[in-house]
Amino acid sequence: MEFECIILEIKEKVGLITLHRPKALNALNDQLMNELGSALKSLDSNEAIQCIVITGSEKAFAAGADIAAMANYSFMDTYKGDYITRNWETIRQIRKPVIAAVAGYALGGGCELAMMCDFIIAAENAKFGQPEIKLGTLPGAGGTQRLPRAISKSKAMDMCLTARMMDAAEAERAGLVSRVVPQEMLLEEAMAAASTIASMSLPIVMMIKESVNRAYETTLSEGVHFERRLFQASFGTEDQKEGMAAFLEKRSAVFKNQ
Ligand code: CAA
Repeated sequence: MEFECIILEIKEKVGLITLHRPKALNALNDQLMNELGSALKSLDSNEAIQCIVITGSEKAFAAGADIAAMANYSFMDTYKGDYITRNWETIRQIRKPVIAAVAGYALGGGCELAMMCDFIIAAENAKFGQPEIKLGTLPGAGGTQRLPRAISKSKAMDMCLTARMMDAAEAERAGLVSRVVPQEMLLEEAMAAASTIASMSLPIVMMIKESVNRAYETTLSEGVHFERRLFQASFGTEDQKEGMAAFLEKRSAVFKNQ
């Protein structure tokens, strides 16, 4: 499939998606989100791929939903037609890990897209924010829900109500991002993390992703129960036998994704 608003590259077992609307700071219009959804689905169903990285440019991961495209929408366009965010949830259906490598602005839908990924690695120049209030609207792709879970209610309220941006250091302190690296190291760091994940057993990786995500959807006792069932299920895989045998034989494991 030909893409115009993203660049899709395959680097060994890692799928790298670069958001690419440089003139609009990667503003997330329908076309970009459709292309992103298609690329993610194709990588998820590609057996040769074990991890996915989404990145943007040095200046912007994404500056939010496309304001020019939505400025004149009516309530009926957005409600009945479900315009703007109708295809944004595709990323949540992806079963392989998705890492956001964020440099520059991750604002509005850009911050929300990064938060939909499994973890965020940020460059030192990254800036996160939910400035929708300045546009007379509010976050529409999970910002008011994922931000409090990621960084506490107090900081989430502060960001959504004042529209202030959070720099990379604060985002790391607050737990929004997992690591901060110099800008020139961002892609290298994200690809190295993806390659590490890709060297593991894919079914176990998928079980871990599923189990961690369950923590956001259920009670602690249900989540622990769910985790225990997956832990037990892992003993039905060949990769568990290989991983433990390799440890005991003091060698590296060779996983078959079985
Ligand atoms: N939508 C459409 N175009 C955008 C855009 C957006 N979200 N963000 C930036 N652009 C465009 C600008 O209009 C500009 O285009 P022109 O050159 O044609 O004028 C170009 O990108 C460069 O932007 P700036 O000149 O503004 O660059 P800057 O360096 O001065 O400022 C910025 C950068 C602070 C990120 C600023 O562009 C900005 O505030 N952008 C909007 C951020 C925003 O409000 N995001 C939330 C969108 S709503 C949303 O996302 C809803 C949701 O939850 C789903």
